[in-house]
Amino acid sequence: MQAYRASILHLEADPSTTDGEAHAFHEDGLLLVAEGRVVACGDYAKLADELGDTPVEDLTGKLIVPGFVDTHIHFPQVDIIAAHGEQLLDWLERHTFPAEAAFADQGHAEAAAEFFVEELLRNGTTSALVFGSVHKASVEALFAAALKRDMRLIAGKSLMDRNAPPGLTDTVEGSRADMQSLIADWHGKGRLGYAVTPRFAISCSDEQLAMAGEVLAEHPTVWMQTHLSENIREIVDTAKLFPDAKDYLDVYERFGLVGKRSVFAHCVHLQGDAFQRLAQAGASVAFCPTSNLFLGSGLFPLETACAHGVKMGIGTDVGAGTTFSILHTLGEAYKVGQLRGEALDPFYALYLATLGGARALGLEDEIGSLEADKIADFLVLDLAATPLLARRMPAARSLEDRLFALTVLGDDRVVERTYVAGVERHRR
Ligand code: GUN
Ligand code: ZN
Repeated sequence: MQAYRASILHLEADPSTTDGEAHAFHEDGLLLVAEGRVVACGDYAKLADELGDTPVEDLTGKLIVPGFVDTHIHFPQVDIIAAHGEQLLDWLERHTFPAEAAFADQGHAEAAAEFFVEELLRNGTTSALVFGSVHKASVEALFAAALKRDMRLIAGKSLMDRNAPPGLTDTVEGSRADMQSLIADWHGKGRLGYAVTPRFAISCSDEQLAMAGEVLAEHPTVWMQTHLSENIREIVDTAKLFPDAKDYLDVYERFGLVGKRSVFAHCVHLQGDAFQRLAQAGASVAFCPTSNLFLGSGLFPLETACAHGVKMGIGTDVGAGTTFSILHTLGEAYKVGQLRGEALDPFYALYLATLGGARALGLEDEIGSLEADKIADFLVLDLAATPLLARRMPAARSLEDRLFALTVLGDDRVVERTYVAGVERHRR
């Protein structure tokens, strides 16, 4: 057994729908881990009896939280993060597609995959839902890198059979075969999962979307991820390409792509009725604040989505997103809320990054909190990692104040250690 003594904070419920406290905080806490799972988590004074002769690692002064869940990120975009100019559609053509074309080269994909998963771990992200490039081999490189580290990673090859440069498009039957083979080889291997990944409606023909729906129906434990209602020009073009669809979401609905295991990135311009339909289907939304600000896409209506009961997670959306850090992303989520007159609650923010993200992926029995029997994916945070934090934190008046300052001022520098299934995978 492993034992860690530190302050511990995690969410056990959704603070937006819970009367009273949704979080558990142990100022002097103890986390017990065995065989990759949490054995117990609570006050040191109450759990010390269960230690037996297990040595305790004293991390007093540090904060243990669950590993972060990134519900939307693009693996082949690491090299064009922070590319200047353009909104979504021009950004895709000018920066993104050329960068993704490079992933046809297996060596390039393998090197990038190593960098990508290490960068996730450095930032405290232990689980992620990831877009690959259109190339099957690039997704295999990513799965192999995550498998080596036992990460809870779900990914898929982007489906795109139109409106992309030659060399970056696939075909209906070619992409069906690629997906069948990726699912057979990787879905359920270790902690990996496959997600059917139509890039967005603009890049997929009716036939390809129908095929994606068929593959999903054949594999009920596979996920689905795509983009929805991110940018005004994208929405106008989608309506032209799908004149029979009642709205953008309906494009995905009519092909059987909206269900309990579906995650829709952005949804910035979605109307109330569509949030209602997502909630009824049990589908989830990934809020990507740094991306929505960077591309000038708009301000996500988080309170409206919550009011309709949609499952919510947070996404970095690298490379339109500008950071791998979920902490920094939460700080930017707060600023998006400020521009809408909605102040994001710090506990709800941490919920989005942990248990909320886990629920968005249907993984709440496995990850998202530090309750007994869950997989021991957790972080040791150093709240004095920078001179500014070291000065600001002791001045905090409450746990809420500390947590809020952590999301506004914190980033990868705060993540001292990252544990995946009880094994240390990163140390600063
Ligand atoms: N919509 C379609 N593809 C993309 C992408 O790569 N990034 C973002 N942010 N939106 C998209
Ligand atoms: Zn995206």
